Amino acid sequence: MELRDEWLVLRPWREDDAPAVYEACQDPEILHWAPVIPRPYTEEDALAFVTGKLDLGPHQYAIEEDGRPVGSIGVRVNEQTRTGHIGYWCAREARGRGLMTRALRLLCGYAFEDLALERLELFTDPDNLASQRVAGKVGFRREGVLRSHLLHPDGRRRDSVMFSLLPGELVPSSRG
Ligand SMILES: CC(C)(COP(=O)(O)OP(=O)(O)OC[C@H]1O[C@@H](n2cnc3c(N)ncnc32)[C@H](O)[C@@H]1OP(=O)(O)O)[C@@H](O)C(=O)NCCC(=O)NCCS
Repeated sequence: MELRDEWLVLRPWREDDAPAVYEACQDPEILHWAPVIPRPYTEEDALAFVTGKLDLGPHQYAIEEDGRPVGSIGVRVNEQTRTGHIGYWCAREARGRGLMTRALRLLCGYAFEDLALERLELFTDPDNLASQRVAGKVGFRREGVLRSHLLHPDGRRRDSVMFSLLPGELVPSSRG
Protein backbone atom coordinates (compact mmCIF):
# COMPACT_ATOMS: atom_id res chain seq x y z
CA MET A 1 0.00 0.00 0.00
CA GLU A 2 1.00 3.64 -0.47
CA LEU A 3 1.27 6.40 2.12
CA ARG A 4 0.65 9.94 0.93
CA ASP A 5 0.49 13.50 2.18
CA GLU A 6 -0.19 16.57 0.04
CA TRP A 7 2.92 16.09 -2.07
CA LEU A 8 4.87 13.08 -0.91
CA VAL A 9 4.37 9.43 -1.84
CA LEU A 10 5.83 6.49 0.03
CA ARG A 11 5.28 3.34 -1.97
CA PRO A 12 6.51 -0.28 -1.88
CA TRP A 13 9.79 -0.97 -3.63
CA ARG A 14 9.74 -2.47 -7.11
CA GLU A 15 12.30 -4.56 -8.93
CA ASP A 16 12.88 -1.78 -11.50
CA ASP A 17 13.98 0.56 -8.68
CA ALA A 18 17.25 -1.38 -8.32
CA PRO A 19 19.34 0.89 -10.62
CA ALA A 20 18.25 4.04 -8.73
CA VAL A 21 19.05 2.44 -5.38
CA TYR A 22 22.41 1.27 -6.69
CA GLU A 23 23.23 4.80 -7.89
CA ALA A 24 22.12 6.46 -4.65
CA CYS A 25 24.10 4.07 -2.46
CA GLN A 26 27.39 4.86 -4.18
CA ASP A 27 27.29 8.09 -2.15
CA PRO A 28 30.09 8.05 0.45
CA GLU A 29 27.89 9.91 2.93
CA ILE A 30 25.28 7.15 2.98
CA LEU A 31 28.01 4.55 3.43
CA HIS A 32 29.65 6.66 6.12
CA TRP A 33 26.54 6.94 8.28
CA ALA A 34 24.92 3.56 7.61
CA PRO A 35 27.24 0.69 8.52
CA VAL A 36 24.69 -1.95 7.59
CA ILE A 37 24.93 -1.05 3.91
CA PRO A 38 27.38 -3.39 2.15
CA ARG A 39 30.44 -1.96 0.45
CA PRO A 40 31.27 -1.93 -2.27
CA TYR A 41 27.54 -1.62 -2.89
CA THR A 42 26.69 -3.73 -5.93
CA GLU A 43 23.74 -3.99 -8.31
CA GLU A 44 22.99 -7.36 -6.70
CA ASP A 45 22.81 -5.67 -3.28
CA ALA A 46 20.32 -3.16 -4.65
CA LEU A 47 18.23 -5.90 -6.22
CA ALA A 48 18.18 -7.89 -2.98
CA PHE A 49 17.03 -4.77 -1.13
CA VAL A 50 14.19 -3.78 -3.48
CA THR A 51 12.92 -7.35 -3.79
CA GLY A 52 12.65 -7.71 -0.02
CA LYS A 53 15.36 -10.33 0.44
CA LEU A 54 16.99 -8.54 3.38
CA ASP A 55 14.48 -9.58 6.03
CA LEU A 56 13.52 -6.00 6.85
CA GLY A 57 9.82 -6.80 6.99
CA PRO A 58 6.89 -5.52 4.93
CA HIS A 59 7.02 -1.82 5.84
CA GLN A 60 9.87 -0.60 3.65
CA TYR A 61 9.10 2.26 1.26
CA ALA A 62 10.54 4.14 -1.66
CA ILE A 63 10.20 7.90 -1.28
CA GLU A 64 8.98 8.92 -4.70
CA GLU A 65 9.36 12.31 -6.33
CA ASP A 66 8.31 13.00 -9.92
CA GLY A 67 7.89 9.26 -10.44
CA ARG A 68 11.46 8.47 -9.32
CA PRO A 69 12.63 6.88 -6.07
CA VAL A 70 14.84 9.43 -4.28
CA GLY A 71 15.03 7.91 -0.84
CA SER A 72 14.25 5.02 1.43
CA ILE A 73 12.39 4.79 4.71
CA GLY A 74 11.09 1.83 6.64
CA VAL A 75 10.05 0.53 9.99
CA ARG A 76 10.91 -2.93 11.28
CA VAL A 77 8.16 -4.06 13.58
CA ASN A 78 8.58 -6.12 16.72
CA GLU A 79 5.11 -7.62 17.13
CA GLN A 80 5.81 -8.89 20.61
CA THR A 81 6.69 -5.51 22.10
CA ARG A 82 4.55 -3.39 19.70
CA THR A 83 7.60 -1.32 18.85
CA GLY A 84 9.17 -0.26 15.57
CA HIS A 85 12.71 0.58 14.54
CA ILE A 86 13.06 3.15 11.77
CA GLY A 87 15.82 3.58 9.20
CA TYR A 88 16.19 5.98 6.28
CA TRP A 89 18.42 7.54 3.66
CA CYS A 90 17.91 10.15 0.99
CA ALA A 91 19.70 10.42 -2.36
CA ARG A 92 22.26 13.22 -2.32
CA GLU A 93 20.52 15.37 -4.95
CA ALA A 94 17.21 15.31 -3.03
CA ARG A 95 18.56 16.43 0.37
CA GLY A 96 17.90 19.66 2.20
CA ARG A 97 14.34 20.20 0.99
CA GLY A 98 12.46 18.69 3.92
CA LEU A 99 11.81 15.40 2.17
CA MET A 100 12.91 13.10 4.98
CA THR A 101 11.13 15.13 7.63
CA ARG A 102 7.89 14.70 5.72
CA ALA A 103 8.52 11.04 5.02
CA LEU A 104 9.30 10.31 8.67
CA ARG A 105 6.20 12.16 9.85
CA LEU A 106 4.06 10.19 7.41
CA LEU A 107 5.53 6.84 8.39
CA CYS A 108 5.22 7.54 12.12
CA GLY A 109 1.56 8.50 11.72
CA TYR A 110 0.92 5.24 9.90
CA ALA A 111 2.87 3.24 12.48
CA PHE A 112 0.83 4.59 15.38
CA GLU A 113 -2.59 4.77 13.74
CA ASP A 114 -2.65 1.76 11.44
CA LEU A 115 -0.03 -0.59 12.88
CA ALA A 116 -0.96 0.33 16.47
CA LEU A 117 2.67 0.50 17.57
CA GLU A 118 3.36 1.97 20.98
CA ARG A 119 6.97 3.06 20.64
CA LEU A 120 9.10 4.04 17.66
CA GLU A 121 12.84 4.28 17.84
CA LEU A 122 15.75 5.21 15.66
CA PHE A 123 19.41 5.68 16.30
CA THR A 124 22.02 7.82 14.62
CA ASP A 125 25.73 8.36 14.81
CA PRO A 126 26.48 11.12 17.37
CA ASP A 127 27.99 13.23 14.56
CA ASN A 128 25.09 12.75 12.14
CA LEU A 129 23.49 16.11 12.88
CA ALA A 130 21.21 16.14 9.82
CA SER A 131 19.60 12.87 10.87
CA GLN A 132 19.22 14.05 14.47
CA ARG A 133 17.63 17.26 13.25
CA VAL A 134 15.11 15.29 11.18
CA ALA A 135 14.21 13.14 14.20
CA GLY A 136 13.86 16.20 16.42
CA LYS A 137 11.62 18.07 13.97
CA VAL A 138 9.19 15.14 13.96
CA GLY A 139 9.11 14.99 17.76
CA PHE A 140 11.55 12.20 18.58
CA ARG A 141 13.23 12.65 21.94
CA ARG A 142 16.86 11.94 22.56
CA GLU A 143 17.15 9.17 25.15
CA GLY A 144 20.85 8.67 25.49
CA VAL A 145 24.01 7.23 24.08
CA LEU A 146 24.55 3.56 23.27
CA ARG A 147 28.26 3.22 23.84
CA SER A 148 30.41 1.39 21.29
CA HIS A 149 27.18 0.30 19.66
CA LEU A 150 28.11 -0.24 16.02
CA LEU A 151 31.01 -1.82 14.23
CA HIS A 152 31.59 -0.20 10.85
CA PRO A 153 33.05 -2.22 7.98
CA ASP A 154 36.23 -0.12 8.16
CA GLY A 155 36.79 -1.27 11.74
CA ARG A 156 35.52 1.86 13.52
CA ARG A 157 33.47 1.23 16.63
CA ARG A 158 30.97 4.06 17.09
CA ASP A 159 28.49 5.15 19.71
CA SER A 160 24.88 5.70 18.68
CA VAL A 161 22.34 8.20 19.94
CA MET A 162 18.96 6.61 20.65
CA PHE A 163 15.79 8.54 19.87
CA SER A 164 12.20 7.50 20.56
CA LEU A 165 8.71 8.72 19.82
CA LEU A 166 5.58 7.68 21.71
CA PRO A 167 1.92 8.03 20.65
CA GLY A 168 0.81 11.64 21.03
CA GLU A 169 4.29 13.08 20.56
CA LEU A 170 4.29 13.35 16.75
CA VAL A 171 4.78 17.01 15.78
CA PRO A 172 2.33 18.07 13.05
CA SER A 173 3.78 19.56 9.88
CA SER A 174 2.80 23.18 10.59
CA ARG A 175 5.29 23.23 13.46
CA GLY A 176 8.01 21.28 11.62
C1 LIG B 1 19.83 12.47 7.12
C2 LIG B 1 19.08 12.62 5.81
C3 LIG B 1 18.17 11.40 5.61
C4 LIG B 1 18.23 13.89 5.85
O1 LIG B 1 17.42 13.96 4.68
P1 LIG B 1 16.84 15.38 4.14
O2 LIG B 1 15.72 15.09 3.21
O3 LIG B 1 17.97 16.21 3.66
O4 LIG B 1 16.28 15.99 5.52
P2 LIG B 1 15.40 17.33 5.69
O5 LIG B 1 15.65 18.24 4.53
O6 LIG B 1 14.01 16.91 5.98
O7 LIG B 1 16.00 17.94 7.04
C5 LIG B 1 17.41 18.05 7.23
C6 LIG B 1 17.65 18.98 8.39
O8 LIG B 1 18.99 18.79 8.85
C7 LIG B 1 19.66 20.03 8.79
N1 LIG B 1 21.07 19.74 8.52
C8 LIG B 1 21.61 19.29 7.37
N2 LIG B 1 22.93 19.13 7.52
C9 LIG B 1 23.22 19.50 8.79
C10 LIG B 1 24.41 19.59 9.54
N3 LIG B 1 25.59 19.21 9.03
N4 LIG B 1 24.33 20.03 10.81
C11 LIG B 1 23.16 20.38 11.37
N5 LIG B 1 21.98 20.32 10.71
C12 LIG B 1 22.03 19.90 9.43
C13 LIG B 1 18.97 20.81 7.71
O9 LIG B 1 19.22 22.20 7.81
C14 LIG B 1 17.51 20.44 8.00
O10 LIG B 1 17.02 21.11 9.14
P3 LIG B 1 16.10 22.46 9.01
O11 LIG B 1 14.85 22.05 8.28
O12 LIG B 1 15.85 22.88 10.41
O13 LIG B 1 16.91 23.46 8.23
C15 LIG B 1 20.07 12.73 4.59
O14 LIG B 1 20.99 13.76 4.87
C16 LIG B 1 20.84 11.45 4.31
O15 LIG B 1 20.32 10.55 3.65
N6 LIG B 1 22.08 11.33 4.82
C17 LIG B 1 22.93 10.17 4.55
C18 LIG B 1 22.35 8.88 5.12
C19 LIG B 1 21.95 9.01 6.58
O16 LIG B 1 22.56 9.74 7.33
N7 LIG B 1 20.91 8.26 6.97
C20 LIG B 1 20.43 8.28 8.34
C21 LIG B 1 21.19 7.30 9.17
S1 LIG B 1 20.62 7.38 10.86
